[in-house]
Amino acid sequence: METPVIQVQLKDPKQWKTLPPAEKLGFGNFFSDHWFTSHFSETKGWTDAKVEPYQNLSLDPAAAVFHYGQALFEGMKAFRRADGSIWLFRPDFNARRFNDGAERLCLHTVPTELFLKGIGAVVRADSRWVPKEPGCALYIRPTLIGSEGFLGVRPSREQQFFVILSPVGSYYSEGAAPVKIWVEYSALRAAAGGLGAVKAGANYAASLQAALHAKKKGYAQVLWLNVDRQGIEEVGTMNVFFVFKNEIVTPALNGSILPGGVRDSTIQLLKHWNKPVVERRITISEIYERHGKQELVEAFGTGTAATISHIGELQWQDKTMKLGGQHELSQQLLENLNGIQMGTKPDTFGWMRSLDSL
Ligand code: COI
Repeated sequence: METPVIQVQLKDPKQWKTLPPAEKLGFGNFFSDHWFTSHFSETKGWTDAKVEPYQNLSLDPAAAVFHYGQALFEGMKAFRRADGSIWLFRPDFNARRFNDGAERLCLHTVPTELFLKGIGAVVRADSRWVPKEPGCALYIRPTLIGSEGFLGVRPSREQQFFVILSPVGSYYSEGAAPVKIWVEYSALRAAAGGLGAVKAGANYAASLQAALHAKKKGYAQVLWLNVDRQGIEEVGTMNVFFVFKNEIVTPALNGSILPGGVRDSTIQLLKHWNKPVVERRITISEIYERHGKQELVEAFGTGTAATISHIGELQWQDKTMKLGGQHELSQQLLENLNGIQMGTKPDTFGWMRSLDSL
């Protein structure tokens, strides 16, 4: 199927929004002036690709997205370097994962060229929204939904793909300070064979109730366990790593954990530094036991929104695991990833794509 030509219809600059100050950004609170959108139908393929002013969607209330949850998204970032140039971190990784998710949700895949060119076109249109302040970036949210109005339970024959942009600072209100995490032993986020390994909106719907309970108790996030309520999964907004004296462990991808881009980059960096990183099953009992023996040195999360986040405390039932002030490895990872993104450290793995190349 042909990739459509992208039309660009920009807003009158007199109607541009005022840019929010960096210290007010937080995460996902502001949206840029434009979006990218394209429609798909089984008869016409991908059509109507355009950058136009940010606006509300117009959808049939019977659309599949509302009733049967055909909704998928990605999270990516664009960075402004000191010379003013704009760079994206591993957009090809996101394009691949997006289409893996589309297949799982019985949505038609978005051609990689349309995915990357659509993102390039809207980021270019809204380049003034890419913040220059340290720790800030332009968060990119590609989204794919089933848009056909029909109530039979079958895959939607029409779809909408769109990309919105949000300038962001820190994901957590704690900023760079270590986060407190609640280990959920009752509710489940996902099970192998379900949707946990793809970025379906449904995974986040499943996580909201436990996250709300955790928040009320003073925890920033929930650490999910496997169906056996023992195996460590992920934190919904990030993958997790545990640094022991003799090994660095992250849960192996088991079909219910999201294969995170920053997770993958972290593993590659650690291997490059000859650190003993392993992907394997790890249980909460093992963490509790090894924490008791003072073998657990630090723990951290990895994610596009969360970057590298230090974990300061884990609460599992009545057991509190304080992780002290050691964040040596997570800090080193954070500085290196930042450096690669901002162009102050070599991009050994070829992760960065300049906006001009999209
Ligand atoms: C991301 O890190 O991009 C995420 O999608 C996590 C979350 C904000 C939903």
